[in-house]
Amino acid sequence: MTYGFETLAIHAGQAPEPRTGAVVAPIYQTSTYAQDAVGQPRLGYEYSRSSNPNRDALQECLAALEGGPRALAFASGLAAEDTLLRAVCQPGDHVVIPDDAYGGTYRLFARVAERWGLDWTAADVSDVDAIRAAVTAHTRVVWLETPTNPLLGIADIAALAQLTHEREALLVVDNTFASPYLQQPLALGADVVVHSTTKYLGGHSDVVGGALVFANAELADEVAFYQNAMGAINGPFDAWLTLRGLRTLGVRMDRHCDNAERVADLLTRHSAVSQVIYPGLPGHPGHETAAKQMRRFGGMVAFRAAGGEEHAIQVCNRTKVFILAESLGGVESLIEHPGRMTHASAAGSPLEVPSDLVRLSVGIETIDDLLTDLSEALA
Ligand SMILES: Cc1ncc(COP(=O)(O)O)c(C=O)c1O
Repeated sequence: MTYGFETLAIHAGQAPEPRTGAVVAPIYQTSTYAQDAVGQPRLGYEYSRSSNPNRDALQECLAALEGGPRALAFASGLAAEDTLLRAVCQPGDHVVIPDDAYGGTYRLFARVAERWGLDWTAADVSDVDAIRAAVTAHTRVVWLETPTNPLLGIADIAALAQLTHEREALLVVDNTFASPYLQQPLALGADVVVHSTTKYLGGHSDVVGGALVFANAELADEVAFYQNAMGAINGPFDAWLTLRGLRTLGVRMDRHCDNAERVADLLTRHSAVSQVIYPGLPGHPGHETAAKQMRRFGGMVAFRAAGGEEHAIQVCNRTKVFILAESLGGVESLIEHPGRMTHASAAGSPLEVPSDLVRLSVGIETIDDLLTDLSEALA
């Protein structure tokens, strides 16, 4: 029998603990495990960098939700990205990256991986021809975000999977903004899904983490070697917290989407806003592709302030329910100025963001309170 998404979120990897029947697994806050004899670790557990029951449970649930044979959990989204890159690429390889992406991801490629000998080209992921033109004979990975952070560009995952595989490269999709409830890249042909589980998967802004989910078990096993060898794992309590968040992912995402639709509608009608960017709006250039590959359009909304950068900053400073903070995907609404905050590291690069841009992570509070808060801040 195959179970639905919400059932998997609550049960995959989460059978009651056999000894006591505890419905929620205890936190195995241990670094090491007693062995039955030399060379005979009990249930395979030796040392918590290599494996821990809380991380195993989280990984099993993540794999079930993304529809892959195996997932690996890490200390942060960037730790997951770094481990993947150094596992699948070698110095001299080339990677295509989005020309709109999380600033920290850009920094990882431009300031860390480049020094290590990895070449990269930034291209518009919403334009298949632009990605085709960016691929070289040395391209090992095409790296997508969809929707992109912060400009909410939409990449056609199936079309880019075909293109990437024709060139014998790997398609990696950062699914942080959508979550597996809204979009399942592996089913569309991606090879690896990346998550900052800090965001919607954890969902409560109380834990930092990352994950990789694989379409292919052999590739997963190879990267698992690097997970242990490089050591960027998450701890037992972090894994436990993230799994607690995952259980309610479906209901949270539906409310995030309901609220984001109402916020986008309000902003569209507001004279102090020059442009609203939300893939759910029919005028968004990626709307049709998003409708084809996403269940709904997500909880992230961006807009440009008609009064320019100073006005954008004022709006960010003025909201009361929307908290001025980096990050996204928690139950509480957040507002930020990407140019000066999350994407400051992309200044002067092909990934620089407009200075009048405001990014909203629309939470699951009472919608009327969110609309009033934004209206007052924009006035
Ligand atoms: C789309 C996206 N990917 C990756 C990351 C990096 O994740 P972390 O902050 O957990 O390292 C972020 C962080 O904001 C993000 O927004």
